[in-house]
Amino acid sequence: MSLLIKEIEKAQNNKTAIGHFNISNLEMFKGVLAGAMNLSPEGKTPVIIGLSESERKYIGTEETVGFVQKLRTETNYPVFINADHCKTYESAEEAVQAGFDSVVIDNSKLSLNENIEATKRTTAILKGIKFDILVEGEMGFIGGSSKLLDQIPSEVQVTEDTITKALDAKRFAEETGIDMLSPAVGNLHGVLKNFLNPRLNMERIKEIAEAVNIPLVLHGGSGVAKEDIQEAVKSGMSVVHFSTDLRVAFRKGLIELVEDYFPNNPNEVAPYKYLTIAVKAVEEVVTQKLELLN
Ligand code: G3H
Ligand code: ZN
Repeated sequence: MSLLIKEIEKAQNNKTAIGHFNISNLEMFKGVLAGAMNLSPEGKTPVIIGLSESERKYIGTEETVGFVQKLRTETNYPVFINADHCKTYESAEEAVQAGFDSVVIDNSKLSLNENIEATKRTTAILKGIKFDILVEGEMGFIGGSSKLLDQIPSEVQVTEDTITKALDAKRFAEETGIDMLSPAVGNLHGVLKNFLNPRLNMERIKEIAEAVNIPLVLHGGSGVAKEDIQEAVKSGMSVVHFSTDLRVAFRKGLIELVEDYFPNNPNEVAPYKYLTIAVKAVEEVVTQKLELLN
C-alpha cells in the first residue's frame, strides 16, 4: 500500500483533507512547501504537488520527481507528486514510469459509458506497470484550465441535473477499479473575475460519499467560498485541488517586484533574492488553504 493512500485514508477517517497544489516552477514548489511547513514543521500536514500536462512540459517530468523525492527522503516531509489531468494513456504512463505517486485519468469529456471503458482500460494497464500507483478517475466536465473567467463556460456541468449522480458515481468507482474519484458537484476549474464561483452542492457530495467506498477528490478549489470548502471536507472530500489562486498570488508577487522592489533596489540582480517575494505570496495562500482543510 502506498504512503499516499495511507495519508488520504487517514484524512478520510478524520474528516479532514489533504491539499493538492499545482505548480509551474520551482518558486511555486518552494511556496507550497513553506506554506505547509508553517502549519506543521514536523510534517503532520502532508501536501500533494500537482502538475498538469502543460505544467509538466514546462518544469520537466523527471526533474520534478527528482527534487520531490530527494526532499522527501532528506527531510522525511510527506510531500507527494500527482500527474494531474492526464488526457491520454501515454501521458499517464510517462508519469508512472517517472515515479509519480498518483495520476488523474481525465476522460471527463466523454460520455459516462465511454469514460468508464477508457478509465478502466488505462487503470488496469497502469497498475500492471506499478501495482501501487494511485489512480484517480474523473466524472463530469468542469472546465479545461485554471484561469480567470468572465463567465462559466457553457459546457461546464454545474447545475443540479448535470452534475454527478450518486448511482453513476458508484457504478464508475466499481467498474473502473480506480482508487479515488473526482465528481462534478458544482465545482469548476478557474475563478470567475466578476462573480463568486458557484456554490457546491453539499447534498450531492454527501450522497456520493455514502454511495462510493473510495476517497473523493474536489477539483477547482480556487474561488470557492471558504465555508463551502470546509463543508465539502466534512461532507466527504479527502483531497482538495487548488491552482488558479496560487497562479494569481504568484503574479501579484511579480507585479509587486516590478512596481515596488525593482525601483527601490536598482542594483539587486540575484533572482534567488528577489523572487522570494513571489514565493512568499504563494506560501501565504497555501497556508490559508491548508488551515481550511485541517
Ligand atoms: O487540478 C487542478 C485543480 O482542480 C485546480 O482548480 O484552478 O480552480 O483551483 P482551480
Ligand atoms: Zn483539476
